[in-house]
Amino acid sequence: MPSDAKLTIDGKTYSLPIVEGTEGERALDITSLRSETGLTALDPAYGNTASCTSGITVIGGDRGILRYRGIPLEEFADKPNFVEVAWLLIFGKLPNSSEYQQFSQRLTNHANLDEDMKHHFMGFPRSAPPMAILSAMISTLSCFHPQLLELHTSDEIEAAAARLISKIRTLAAYTYRHSHGLPYIYPDPSLPYTSNFLHMMFSEPYKRYESSEEVRRALNLVLILHADHEQNCSTSTVRMVGSSRANLFASCAAGVSALWGPLHGGANVKVIEMLEAIHQGNQSADEFINLSKDKSSGIRLMGFGHRIYKNFDPRAMMLRKVCDEMLDTLGIHDPLLDIAKRLEDIALNDEYFVSRKLYPNVDFYSGIILRAIGIPTNMFTVLFAIGRLPGWIAHWHEQNSDPNMRISRPRQIYTGNPKSPYIDVRDRT
Ligand code: CMC
Repeated sequence: MPSDAKLTIDGKTYSLPIVEGTEGERALDITSLRSETGLTALDPAYGNTASCTSGITVIGGDRGILRYRGIPLEEFADKPNFVEVAWLLIFGKLPNSSEYQQFSQRLTNHANLDEDMKHHFMGFPRSAPPMAILSAMISTLSCFHPQLLELHTSDEIEAAAARLISKIRTLAAYTYRHSHGLPYIYPDPSLPYTSNFLHMMFSEPYKRYESSEEVRRALNLVLILHADHEQNCSTSTVRMVGSSRANLFASCAAGVSALWGPLHGGANVKVIEMLEAIHQGNQSADEFINLSKDKSSGIRLMGFGHRIYKNFDPRAMMLRKVCDEMLDTLGIHDPLLDIAKRLEDIALNDEYFVSRKLYPNVDFYSGIILRAIGIPTNMFTVLFAIGRLPGWIAHWHEQNSDPNMRISRPRQIYTGNPKSPYIDVRDRT
């Protein structure tokens, strides 16, 4: 394999090194392109740009592979433990039992919010979008933990990570309680991660919510399957913001905003809206598929397609399985699941989707699981954020540990007006 590529511009030939990753993926290193040639690279939406090297997650888009720190996602299916996976992503290896105990204890110790934060919740209208509240409240955490705005040691990173990963659950549950005018339920230190979240969501002061094993397993798996996905839009946002040396809270708050969009995390809401519209008889599954193939309709088959996966998304396959199992065990029949399967069947046999390599993605089945747990649709993307947080922290940490880190600052090709004079307002047409 050649270790460099030749680029000829105006008769002069330049050599560009080729770098190779662990899984054999190759890239042209254009770090010195501009200084040597005076040219930049134009790559709208970064479809061909590796923005960094990273050792956290690998996706084999053509092979349907996803591994966290080298461990295939499927390995987590039997005994899913989100806390363990969070530590793995951030620190690069599975925690041994004392590391796990310490991290768990830190999560327990820091689940509560400062009591004054309740006033912030009260300032939001009941109808406020949960992702807006979440982003604002993660930023607000930085005001309550000024000692964690600069992180130098591994212990400080763990302290900040534990607070964020623990408190995001409390923030999410309080967001839900606030929007429904319900009293806030404090975290219970005796409960593990997902049970505690469900307790804060669904218990009442006069009646305790007890989650079933099946629900806890499904929720752990949903969070794990969302935990990292290399340089996706929100993670790249976290890295971009963090590259200015903005603190971890500010960087993760920006990640929440990026995740909110319907082409990213917000797709899980759009999937359910689409399935509900079909269920209510507005359209048949076939009609919807036809609309989604017609570009002028502006409609896409939500939960389908991916920038990287051009085979299948392993997360979608695992979610479909756990969705079937959970609904079966709980004795729930959700007509939306039937519609989702019907859409999948049609699309996977339709030339439009086959030729474009469009397969179900992580958002296609996750909403049906969350619905069965009792999570309202407008909270789905918040659940995605809880899951993705360890990935954001891992990337922020990886980037900040790089002694050669520079601020991210892309170039552009200017296509605006040529130099123009200022015209006084009285002379403007
Ligand atoms: N329904 C219908 N057509 C589609 C779809 C879809 N869901 N997705 C892509 N296409 C078509 C698109 O119109 C284009 O066709 P053509 O080549 O004729 O112009 C072709 O497939 C390639 O699409 P693209 O928009 O260039 O692909 P992209 O890599 O820029 O976008 C995507 C990826 C995920 C934004 C897109 O597939 C999409 O909008 N999917 C629906 C939204 C969704 O489910 N998003 C969640 C993504 S996974 C979770 C996450 O990362 O947040």
